[in-house]
Amino acid sequence: MIKTAAEFDFGGEDTSYLSHSLHPYPAKFPPQLPKRILQQYAVKGQIILDPFCGSGTTLVEARIYGVNAIGVDVNGLSTLLSKVKATSLSPLQFKTIGKFIENIQDEIFRWKLGQRPEIKIKEIEGSDHWFQKNVSEEITFLLNEIHKQKDKDIADFLKIVLSSIIVRVSNQDSDTRFAAVEKNIQNCFTLEQFCKKTTEYNSRMVEFSKIISDKTELNIYNADSRNLDFIADNSIDLIITSPPYANTYDYYLYHKFRKRWLDLDVKFAQYNEIGSRREYSSLKEKPEKWNDDLTKCFIEMHRVLKPDKLAFIVIGDSVINKKLIKIEKEISEFAPRIGFKVNKILSSDLSGHSRIFNPSYAQKGKKEHLITLQKG
Ligand SMILES: C[S@@+](CC[C@H](N)C(=O)[O-])C[C@H]1O[C@@H](n2cnc3c(N)ncnc32)[C@H](O)[C@@H]1O
Repeated sequence: MIKTAAEFDFGGEDTSYLSHSLHPYPAKFPPQLPKRILQQYAVKGQIILDPFCGSGTTLVEARIYGVNAIGVDVNGLSTLLSKVKATSLSPLQFKTIGKFIENIQDEIFRWKLGQRPEIKIKEIEGSDHWFQKNVSEEITFLLNEIHKQKDKDIADFLKIVLSSIIVRVSNQDSDTRFAAVEKNIQNCFTLEQFCKKTTEYNSRMVEFSKIISDKTELNIYNADSRNLDFIADNSIDLIITSPPYANTYDYYLYHKFRKRWLDLDVKFAQYNEIGSRREYSSLKEKPEKWNDDLTKCFIEMHRVLKPDKLAFIVIGDSVINKKLIKIEKEISEFAPRIGFKVNKILSSDLSGHSRIFNPSYAQKGKKEHLITLQKG
């Protein structure tokens, strides 16, 4: 039984082992969090759900532990990333990836000798401002090569590699800063970065694939968790999840260019993401909307859980319209109405090195909570 918030202080631990280090994603779990919960509460053969799966941390740990996993996220990049990180590949598939990289390296060699081909740049909104012409050509070239791949798992892996370097080769200052800056990206740099990242991620996936049993199932849905009608009533053994912290991020915006290059839908996430900064800072929605949206998600979590089973929720307080929303109070109020027993709330002010989730969150009296609910 988990008793203290200190048990969730993972400061200093390696959070990037196996496939966890693939691709940037904001506000990820430390993998030790789902791992510890799985070790204490899950039994092999069971089905685990993360309805806000983000970069797939819970799903990766579920597969390592040997349980079946279902992930849901409104963001198409998130579901692609989760799928890639949690799907093992075979030695033959790794060989194909190796050959793919050899071909790109041959191209780089030829291009550097002056044989750079004419490339019709893929049109994406905003590319002239955010990408140099030579970079857009190289991204288009890589996408064309990836599209020739018949094996979907390999193509998805390569898309995630490409996606991971998009901000680095764009004019965007950094993943967290949306200003355009001049980077003067040299010819072939994008191709070289792609090869470098593929090699790095490939070795992570080799290690991950060695320890995954093919006997577990993984299902991932690009959907809005306010309606989980594709999951049967009373079918889930354990939920481990972290909904957005209201008014903190715009997940849909964070990966906008990556999604445009990969033809992933931007609007679905934009209009269905709950708790976004867009809703509460730009559109000035009322705090009640946050409570309503979260309640809808919890009703669905309650419906799909088997009787007596547990949901572990990591969630943070937020400030909406200058009002501090103490989220553990809100949840303690609405969860029993839905039929959940509130078993335990562990809170951390995240001061100093302590953290459950994200150390940068220690601001403005906000706290982060690990809430354990049990279906009554
Ligand atoms: C805190 S992040 C989860 C991070 C995850 N635990 C990880 O380790 O990567 C919250 C996630 O909720 C997703 N989200 C927001 N609104 C959603 C909705 N209506 N339905 C499903 N997912 C949603 C966001 O896209 C984001 O990926």
